[in-house]
Amino acid sequence: MTSEKKTVAVLYGGRSTEYEISLLTAYSVINAMDLEKYRVLPVYIQQDGRWIAGSEIKKKLEYKDQLLLKEDQTLETNAEHWLAPSASAAAINKRPDVVFPLLHGPNGEDGTVQGLFELLNIAYVGSGVSGSSVGMDKVLMKDVFSAHGIQGPKYLSVPRFDWESDAPSVILEVKNSIGYPCFVKPANCGSSVGISQCLSETDLSAAVEEAFRFDTKVIIEEKIDGREVEIGVIGNHSLSVSVPGEIKTGEADFYDYQSKYQEGKSTLIIPADLPGKVRAELEDVAKRAFVALNLSGLARVDVFIREGDHRVILNEVNTMPGFTQFSMFPLLWQHTGISYRDLIEKLIDLGIEKFREKQKIHYRIDE
Ligand SMILES: Nc1ncnc2c1ncn2[C@@H]1O[C@H](COP(=O)(O)OP(=O)(O)O)[C@@H](O)[C@H]1O
Ligand SMILES: [Mg+2]
Repeated sequence: MTSEKKTVAVLYGGRSTEYEISLLTAYSVINAMDLEKYRVLPVYIQQDGRWIAGSEIKKKLEYKDQLLLKEDQTLETNAEHWLAPSASAAAINKRPDVVFPLLHGPNGEDGTVQGLFELLNIAYVGSGVSGSSVGMDKVLMKDVFSAHGIQGPKYLSVPRFDWESDAPSVILEVKNSIGYPCFVKPANCGSSVGISQCLSETDLSAAVEEAFRFDTKVIIEEKIDGREVEIGVIGNHSLSVSVPGEIKTGEADFYDYQSKYQEGKSTLIIPADLPGKVRAELEDVAKRAFVALNLSGLARVDVFIREGDHRVILNEVNTMPGFTQFSMFPLLWQHTGISYRDLIEKLIDLGIEKFREKQKIHYRIDE
C-alpha cells in the first residue's frame, strides 16, 4: 500500500427486515468518514443476499441510492474474491484492514457475518460470533442475563412447534406465569418488527401468529410500566459508558416501528434526567450486561426505569445499534463529548485492537 491509509470495507444492506435502515446508516457513516485517512470500500448486500463489492469511494456520496451497486460497478476487488475463504494470495493482499458491518438484525448483527470474517481472519468492528448471536436472540440473551442476576421482565420462550402442537397449553402458561398486559415478539428481530402488546388473552393468538411471520421462536414478556432509557457502551476490556437518553413515544402504545423511524413520532431526551442513584445502577447494569454477553466494541443497552420502585429493568442489548447521525447511539456519545466521526474512528480502532489480540492465539500445538 502506498500510504498509511487504512482500508475499511463498509458492509450494508442485507437479507433482513432492517435493510433500509442499514442503507441510511451506511450513507451517513461513509459521508462522515475522513477519506484522507481511510480508503473506503463499499460492500452492498442485496435483499436476496447477494454481495457486490465495489471500488473505493473517493468523494462524498451525493445521494443514498449511489450505494445500490450494480454488477458493472465492481472493479477488480470483486473479481479477486477477497471475500472468499478460497481467495488467492494476490486477493488476500487486497483484503481491507478492517470491516465495518453496518447491518442490523438477522444475517448481519447475529454472528453470521462475524463468522465469515473470523474464517477470513479479517478485523471487524463490533462483537464477535457468540456475543452477536446471543445478543440477537431475545430468549438466549435473557437466559444469560438471568444467569448473571441482571433483572429483566418475566419471559416465556415459545418455539413454533410447541405453539402448533398445543396452543392452549401455551395460552394457559402465559396466563399463569406472565399475565396481562404482555408483549409478544419474534425472538430474533429488531426495529420492533412483529411486536405486539396484548392487553388480554383475546389478543394473544393473533399477536403470536404475527410474531411467527418473522421467526420460528417467539418470546412473551410481562409488560414493564416505566420510562424507557438507553445508554451506550464502548470498549473491549476497559469500558466507557455514555450519558443516558430517554425515549418519549407520544401517542403510540410503545416504541414501535413508526415511532422509531417516522419524523416527529418520538422524542429523544439527552441526557435523560435521572437521579444519581438510578444513573449509577444503569451504568452498572449496562457494563455487566456487556460483559455477560461477551461483547466487544460497542453496544446500546436499553432498559426500563420501573414505575414505583425506580429499579433498572433490562430490556435488551443491541450489538449494532442504529448508527445514522441522528440515531440514539451516536447522539448519546456526542453529548458525552465524542463526535460522530471520532466515534466511527474509535470503533474501527477497537476492531483492529481486538483482531491483534486474537492473532496471539496458537492454532498449532507445536509452535
Ligand atoms: N416487557 C416490556 N414491557 C414494556 N414495553 C416493552 C416490553 N418489551 C418491549 N416493549 C416495548 O416494545 C419496544 C420494542 O421492543 P424490543 O424488545 O426493544 O424490540 P426491538 O429489538 O425490536 O427493539 C420497546 O422499545 C418498548 O417500547
Ligand atoms: Mg429495542
